[in-house]
Amino acid sequence: MALLKGPPELLLTLTLHSALTLSPFPGASFYPQWDYCILGAGPAGLQMAYFLGQAGRNYVVFERAGAPGSFFTRYPRHRKLISINKRYTGKVNSEFNLRHDWNSLLSHDQRLLFRHYSKAYFPHADDMVRYLRDFADRLSLRVHYNTAIVHVTLSKNPRAWNGHFFILTDQRGQGYQCSVLFVATGVSVPNEIDFPGSEYVEGYESVSVDPEDFVGQNVLILGRGNSAFETAENILGYTNFIHMVGRSRIRLSWATHYVGDLRAVNNGLLDTYQLKSLDGLLETDLKDLAIVKDRKGRLRITLPVFMDRAKENAPAEAISLPQDEVDNFAMRVPYDRVIRCLGFTFNFSIFNGTLGLAPGKGQKKKYPLIKASYEAKRTRGLFVLGTASHSVDYRKSAGGFIHGFRYTARAVHRLLEHRHHGNPWPSPVYPITQLTNTIIRRVNEASGLYQMFSVLADVVLLKKKATGFEYLEEYPIKMLAELETLTGREAQHGLFVVTMEYGKNFSGPDKDVFYYDRAVGDVEDAWQSNFLHPVIYYYHCLPTEKEMVSRAPGWPLPRPVAIHHIVEDFLTDWTAPVAHILPLRRFLENCLNSDLRSFYAESCFLFALTRQKLPPFCQHGYMNMQGLMANEKLRRHGIESGLMEDYGAIEEQPLDQKLGGPWDSSSPIPACHQHEGRALTYKRPRQGPLPKSFRAWGTQPLAQASSCQRCAQTIVSDRTKVVWRRRKGCTRWYDAPSVWMQDLAHPCVGQRARALGPPQAWHHRPTSCLSPVQRSLSHHFT
Ligand SMILES: *[C@@H]1O[C@H](CO)[C@@H](O)[C@H](O)[C@H]1NC(C)=O
Ligand SMILES: *[C@@H]1O[C@H](CO)[C@@H](O)[C@H](O)[C@H]1NC(C)=O
Ligand SMILES: *[C@@H]1O[C@H](CO)[C@@H](O)[C@H](O)[C@H]1NC(C)=O
Repeated sequence: MALLKGPPELLLTLTLHSALTLSPFPGASFYPQWDYCILGAGPAGLQMAYFLGQAGRNYVVFERAGAPGSFFTRYPRHRKLISINKRYTGKVNSEFNLRHDWNSLLSHDQRLLFRHYSKAYFPHADDMVRYLRDFADRLSLRVHYNTAIVHVTLSKNPRAWNGHFFILTDQRGQGYQCSVLFVATGVSVPNEIDFPGSEYVEGYESVSVDPEDFVGQNVLILGRGNSAFETAENILGYTNFIHMVGRSRIRLSWATHYVGDLRAVNNGLLDTYQLKSLDGLLETDLKDLAIVKDRKGRLRITLPVFMDRAKENAPAEAISLPQDEVDNFAMRVPYDRVIRCLGFTFNFSIFNGTLGLAPGKGQKKKYPLIKASYEAKRTRGLFVLGTASHSVDYRKSAGGFIHGFRYTARAVHRLLEHRHHGNPWPSPVYPITQLTNTIIRRVNEASGLYQMFSVLADVVLLKKKATGFEYLEEYPIKMLAELETLTGREAQHGLFVVTMEYGKNFSGPDKDVFYYDRAVGDVEDAWQSNFLHPVIYYYHCLPTEKEMVSRAPGWPLPRPVAIHHIVEDFLTDWTAPVAHILPLRRFLENCLNSDLRSFYAESCFLFALTRQKLPPFCQHGYMNMQGLMANEKLRRHGIESGLMEDYGAIEEQPLDQKLGGPWDSSSPIPACHQHEGRALTYKRPRQGPLPKSFRAWGTQPLAQASSCQRCAQTIVSDRTKVVWRRRKGCTRWYDAPSVWMQDLAHPCVGQRARALGPPQAWHHRPTSCLSPVQRSLSHHFT
């Protein structure tokens, strides 16, 4: 039954047969059934349908209207979307470009990018309708149009995935049975407020959008969100004045960093208010207002207490007005129109009480209460997607908007793939030496991490002894304590969590986000970064649920063992070798007590001779006879491709120039060792960091030789010089390669190095060609 596909009629006949035998509920037996049902063919519903279709799941979408995206056929009323459609970023990385495309849904089809649907930076809502229709058609999503689900209830059944089926009834009385239900119906009920005289108020959903209808009028707008300002913007040049009332301080999205607050594109009225052009903003609780209509049909503002005092059925003129007592009362002029723009709430009416789908508290009461996994608090298998799921990150992140919930829908799909189909959360495994690269690549290109900052996070699960790691993308951060059960992955050996965050004190309606010195440039001050920047948390084990609950206010996660901020960047490009990558690598190395650098074969060879413990890169590469020898050709290639800087000639002294710098392929090990008893000093280039193979030796003292078994010893004499010296009593072994073979027997040559043979024989593996810096750069730019 579970994998039935095909036209609904076929499905119906097939289900009839098996349902009759399976279902213990006589009433339920005639229902066609699906594993996954989605309510609503808006952006969130279609996005989930896409993921289910790709995974080959048995699903259906029910849509009340005859086409997808019906909300957008009516809203926004003035038809201009405020989600940006940035068609050019100067980058070709498609994942990166999604960071600045707030309208596209996720799919494999490159034609289904919003940039092909509109050239406008703030597109027309009709283009969204057209886009959603194409999305459903091209991807052959299974949507039942003209099917309004009017009732949803539960039917207990021990055979059901979650112990119950969802029974849906449509407007024709037809029932449907679903194992998992996604509610993606958005918020559609205009938010009304009841006060004396509210019957005189027109709603955003029906008010005229023709500015000519407002010529010479005094207009009062209730609310101060985007719909209120959008309405004002439309009539600004036609009215006498517009007053706007709301309870709270105006919330500008540039100050709060929340895209749902008032966007600059809509805020023309702020200009005219502050420049004293008659329009204005007032703060009061709408419940403290009352409206009376005077004899001329004009609307006058008064207070509920005056209404109470007046006799019942008293004419409007008999009701006192505030200006009778305070003659400079701000709203003493009568209004021609009062328009309510208070947003929308979720329609709870179709859900049977047994589902326990309750409204959230306080400001979140317009959304159903759900867990951070987007599942209803009380009903397993009931998920809320899209705008209605915004209670998880209300007024924080982008979960209420297409560019955010396209990623939360994917996260929900991944959770369900594990729960019902035994497919653990996708998590490629990499050797530990790729850790810096992987994180740098993600923070530079990942869109889900960026849009859903502080809500979705990448999780790095370390393997035993930190030899490798698994990388889980875009996991809901608040469910971290339950990661193992929800994803099917193990977190026994420590983990990193990679998030993007704004500065702790940088978002709020009253914050001055333009203050001088707001940008942090110094790596030491990275933790004080204000703008969106990557933050990496390190834990020895998963935080417990208790720790998650009792985390410090304002923190997305509980106290970690260690934390690292990558300093904010004006270009949001975290690839600077010294400012971004090096501090990250050092942080990871400190946490892991390991050395994550990449080395050329020569360096590994030297380490093998001189160290007890090899860096993981040498262990994984060189010791497996893989690695790369530095040579002049590679260096030129690196420079020409722009991946490396040309450090120019390195001064060598005091011996002859032919000794061979780190790039000289003629000598498999640095030639200094050919000179018995003498030391060679390399001088650091005057500018810039040391080239890689110098740094391999130079920035960290090598382990001192523990006994006479060690032939070579590195002395870092000071920060600018690296001195290699041969140890007394050891002879000849360093005259590679010809002498190499004979010297394998020498007690000074480590067991490990002995197995390897002469360096020329090592394989070159293309993936090892690039250092972490180079690799992350190449990911970023290609
Ligand atoms: C809520 O949904 C039901 C069922 O579709 C519908 O009949 C009702 O009108 C909706 N309520 C509002 C306020 O729109
Ligand atoms: C809720 O469902 C139960 C049975 O599942 C039914 O008896 C009841 O009438 C439903 N309530 C509403 C309001 O439809
Ligand atoms: C934020 O403000 C608080 C209180 O003023 C201060 O203690 C804290 O250090 C600030 N945090 C940052 C990251 O600047």
